[in-house]
Amino acid sequence: MNLPFAKQLALGPVLGVESSCDETGVAIFDPARGLLAHTLYSQIRMHADYGGVVPELASRDHVRKLVPLIRETLAQAGLGVADLGGVAYTAGPGLVGALLVGAAAARSLAWALELPAIGVHHMEGHLLAPLLEPDPPAPPFVALLVSGGHSMLIEVAAIGRYTLLGDTLDDAAGEAFDKTAKLMDIPYPGGPALAKLAEQGRPGVFRFSRPMTDRPGLDFSFSGLKTQVLLAWRASDQTAQTKADIARAFEDAVVDTLTIKCRRALAQTGARALVVAGGVGANRHLRQQLVDTASCDGFRVHFPRLEFCTDNGAMIALAGALRLQAGAVETAAIKVQPRWDLQGLSALDEQEAGQSAS
Ligand code: KG4
Ligand code: ZN
Repeated sequence: MNLPFAKQLALGPVLGVESSCDETGVAIFDPARGLLAHTLYSQIRMHADYGGVVPELASRDHVRKLVPLIRETLAQAGLGVADLGGVAYTAGPGLVGALLVGAAAARSLAWALELPAIGVHHMEGHLLAPLLEPDPPAPPFVALLVSGGHSMLIEVAAIGRYTLLGDTLDDAAGEAFDKTAKLMDIPYPGGPALAKLAEQGRPGVFRFSRPMTDRPGLDFSFSGLKTQVLLAWRASDQTAQTKADIARAFEDAVVDTLTIKCRRALAQTGARALVVAGGVGANRHLRQQLVDTASCDGFRVHFPRLEFCTDNGAMIALAGALRLQAGAVETAAIKVQPRWDLQGLSALDEQEAGQSAS
């Protein structure tokens, strides 16, 4: 892989561990050969009984699943631990207990094997996931990161040099999908199910607002849409077709809002490429509308493949490999950051040995 910065230390395959929320993800990314293997275990079924993620249960399940997944991933790649050149793990943001499981396992493994290890920012992982695809984007570009916890527009001047252009004032896009689904009795995690239902919905039967698009700025607010859905649902006949029609109107409102703000961010920065990542980036309607807008406006749009939109180990292995190759060095301390500002990261071309990325 040709990396977009000068310094490229020789580095063997990097093991990546993701455990920030309710998915245990493990992958091996080799800077010379690309992604060698990845495995994922989703805890969704366990949390569904509670209607949301239960942090303590999440931590315990990561403890159960992580080591078997590491073994499985190594086997898939045809490698032993002695073949690894580095270890990367999600150090934040996320659930503290869940993060600590991955951080402790990854740091301990690295220490035992005398390998360099690096704590990765989860959202930088999402942002860089499209680099795992053919024809990867190169900075400068604008990134739309839309997940269960974040809705952000970011100006990417270089890898690691991030400026926040817009953020959510309340619910994140994925959170809005999940909460709206819950209002209409679609079980947790409702986002993908609501999107599926929307495919059967008729456009224009219901119409909800495009929040905060009538004024300048790049911030988002999705919680009012939830209320609009609740009122429409309560006043409706609550048939299956109506549910699908409301789901369609909700999805149209979110997709239009995100599209309007992406166009605005591109105009404001002058960037000619857009990267879309995070769980909501798996939404087919959003992907199609952004592809159409890109061809109409003349910018390029890049997405990760569907399975790398939601949480995964591959994006962490890649982001960690890029930072380790650029010379990042961290102490062996097991440290996580449940809250972590993406803008505090160092750019890869500024990263000198001895300087920590976290
Ligand atoms: O990135 P992710 O796996 O986890 C976080 O870092 O938060 O994103 C999960 C979020 C959930 O809110 C989920 O409902 C949403 O992404 N999501 C979707 C779709 N697939 C996942 N939302 C809309 N349409 C989808 N197809
Ligand atoms: Zn995520």
